[in-house]
Amino acid sequence: MRTKIVAGNWKMNMDKEGTRALLTDLVAKLPQTSTLVMVAPTFVNLESAVNQLSGLPIEAVAQNMHFEDSGAYTGEISAGMLRSVGVQTVILGHSERRAYFHETDELLEKKVRKALENDIRVIFCFGEELADRKAGKQFEVVQRQLSKALFNLPENAWEDIILAYEPVWAIGTGETASPEQAQEMHAFIRKGVAEASSEKTADSVSILYGGSVKPGNAREIFSKPDVDGGLIGGASLKAEDFIAIVTAFD
Ligand code: 13P
Repeated sequence: MRTKIVAGNWKMNMDKEGTRALLTDLVAKLPQTSTLVMVAPTFVNLESAVNQLSGLPIEAVAQNMHFEDSGAYTGEISAGMLRSVGVQTVILGHSERRAYFHETDELLEKKVRKALENDIRVIFCFGEELADRKAGKQFEVVQRQLSKALFNLPENAWEDIILAYEPVWAIGTGETASPEQAQEMHAFIRKGVAEASSEKTADSVSILYGGSVKPGNAREIFSKPDVDGGLIGGASLKAEDFIAIVTAFD
């Protein structure tokens, strides 16, 4: 059985007090679940989140990371720094990083390798833009994003990879991929992983869907056989909504 995962990407939201309060609320409301639950606060609040969640069934993860160990990279954070405050997982390749900070497939390959070298698990995001889908190029785009950054990895590296398909046109827009569109793409991704690695790896890698997942649509999307969970933006900022999505598998 693949691990079911629901991760909240808080993006650039929540100050110190807001972070503490939302975590307190989540911890209080989270029922017993077999779903792996993660939240990604901003860097300045990450260490306190790790500490607040210590011993609890919610993991605090990072939203980004640099590919070098240290040096003259003003404003950046290394894998070793994340490890040093107890972070074990990082989100890489989010479409907002690709679009606003010009992160390329080549750069992301370096980041993925550096994270894995440091025993940091990667939630790797990718997905096509609206123009790609309108042109029928969504599979080609996704194949390219995965090929460059992941498909040359050795088989054992896949134990530390979680995939997150996030069609850009569905992020923050209120428009979700239909459960059928999500399933179609997730099956395509799993087939790609099988070809690049092995059937066994493809069978065990968790593939999350992200893009306007809400309490009202999570259950239907998660019911698809190749959808193993969600990466949640807006709806992860309200404890009740996030918990409703987490429990959509139950
Ligand atoms: P929304 O859920 O707000 O559409 O954001 C999705 C996302 O980008 C998660 O990383």
